[in-house]
Amino acid sequence: IKSQPTIFVIFGGTGDLNARKLAPALYNLYLEGWLPEQFALIGTGRTKLSDDDFRERMLKDINEFSRSGEAKEDKWQGFVPNVYYQAADVQNADTYQEFANRIKQLEEEWKTEANVIYYLAVAPNFFPVIAENLSKAGLTTDVERTRIVIEKPFGHDLESAKELNKLLGCIFQEKQIYRIDHYLGKETVQNIMAFRFANAIMEPLWNRNNIEHVQISVTEQLGVGERTGYYDGSGALRDMIQNHLLQLLCIVAMEPPVNFTAEEVRDRKVDVLRAMRRFTPDSVRDSAVRGQYGPGWIEGEKVPGYREEPGANPESNTETFAAVKFFVDNWRWQGVPFYLRTGKRLHRSASIITIQFKDVPHSIFPPEMADTMRKNRLVISIQPEMSIRLQVQAKRPGVDMVLNTVDMVFDYKGTYVAQAPEAYETLLLDVMLGDQTLFMRADQVEEAWDLVMPILNAWQNRASQNFPNYSADSWGPEVAEALVAKDGFHWFTIPLSSKK
Ligand code: BG6
Repeated sequence: IKSQPTIFVIFGGTGDLNARKLAPALYNLYLEGWLPEQFALIGTGRTKLSDDDFRERMLKDINEFSRSGEAKEDKWQGFVPNVYYQAADVQNADTYQEFANRIKQLEEEWKTEANVIYYLAVAPNFFPVIAENLSKAGLTTDVERTRIVIEKPFGHDLESAKELNKLLGCIFQEKQIYRIDHYLGKETVQNIMAFRFANAIMEPLWNRNNIEHVQISVTEQLGVGERTGYYDGSGALRDMIQNHLLQLLCIVAMEPPVNFTAEEVRDRKVDVLRAMRRFTPDSVRDSAVRGQYGPGWIEGEKVPGYREEPGANPESNTETFAAVKFFVDNWRWQGVPFYLRTGKRLHRSASIITIQFKDVPHSIFPPEMADTMRKNRLVISIQPEMSIRLQVQAKRPGVDMVLNTVDMVFDYKGTYVAQAPEAYETLLLDVMLGDQTLFMRADQVEEAWDLVMPILNAWQNRASQNFPNYSADSWGPEVAEALVAKDGFHWFTIPLSSKK
């Protein structure tokens, strides 16, 4: 399937997101034959550039950031005539008239109407003015052909998220709005739905009768670096848990959808958020912990603490680590804790979902045979390793009967030859095809904010006394270990020996 003739207008065309993600993704879609014959990319930004200047920049970005490596001359020559640039002041109504003219001109050349996608790769404070000006210029009225794509943050809290949804809702219909959560585009994340709902053996086990607890852990080795301007007003809970990690939780916890259509899938996901237990100020204390990294060493290099990052507030109380224990109060999950953690400057970058099953009801093996015996675990590794492993007990070879834990592994590397696409390739193609399954609906965003607001409020009212409280290259603050240890668990990591 190919999409209709498409014009992609990228606001923030000279910015970082376009350089690292959007331009390489669109180019790779072109290489793999997914773009329609009639396709145009119009980059826009404040900087004055000619089409050729912009094309040159784009080639440099693709060479640097594309997963397919440096662009080949003949392929690039096939793609580049579709790329244009228009300097624009987003506050100025004339700008939008110029877009309207450019779109009309392309449609006349192509002798057909085109789908027009407005991608707002700009700071969120520009969302309202761009949306309003697009509307005033009459560019948003064709609800079948016009789409808008926005990147998080979708608001700073519940109230501002509602305001943003309201504003967008006055101009666009929900089916025109594509809110990106790039985790949903990751190959391994999409595969969770396939694994759960295309295999008969999982579903009967997938509930409180068999599952003891669930962990979702997204650890990053990188620090905040140059992003303190954005990050200091955000923190780990807003930056990662409110969106990416809660979305992962929804995919793990959702009921089987009736079919694989956008509304049905998103309905089942929002059901999970609605069923999640709300926090009180007291339960926040028991359920949510935070941390901030101090200086340290990562792979032999000295790295600064968060408060010493460029542009950081030296007394910042922003958390760079957060761990939260959630419950989903419904029949399937009653009493099963979901522990989510994320942080920067940790020992290793790894995104892992661990489903830990209950113990056998009765062990027939005496302790001396089964001293390494553990509960079964299903470990879904999202990145960098792309795998699903089921940990089971087995008899160690030998004349005596001793059990140990072994992994049954489905590993992408060993199974598939083709390289997995980048999340943005999947997501941009879906925008072109008009498929919203992997995008956040307004109600999902609001429910997720509603859920985390008591934690944000409690943390704001109670400044942390002991920041920084973990050093670079650790697994985070001690309180995070305590959060799971008090329930008798520990955070699971894939042993280094299996790191690819
Ligand atoms: C972004 C956050 O949404 O996700 C970043 O703003 C974070 O702080 C990033 O580093 C992680 O994404 P990925 O794809 O590298 O795991």
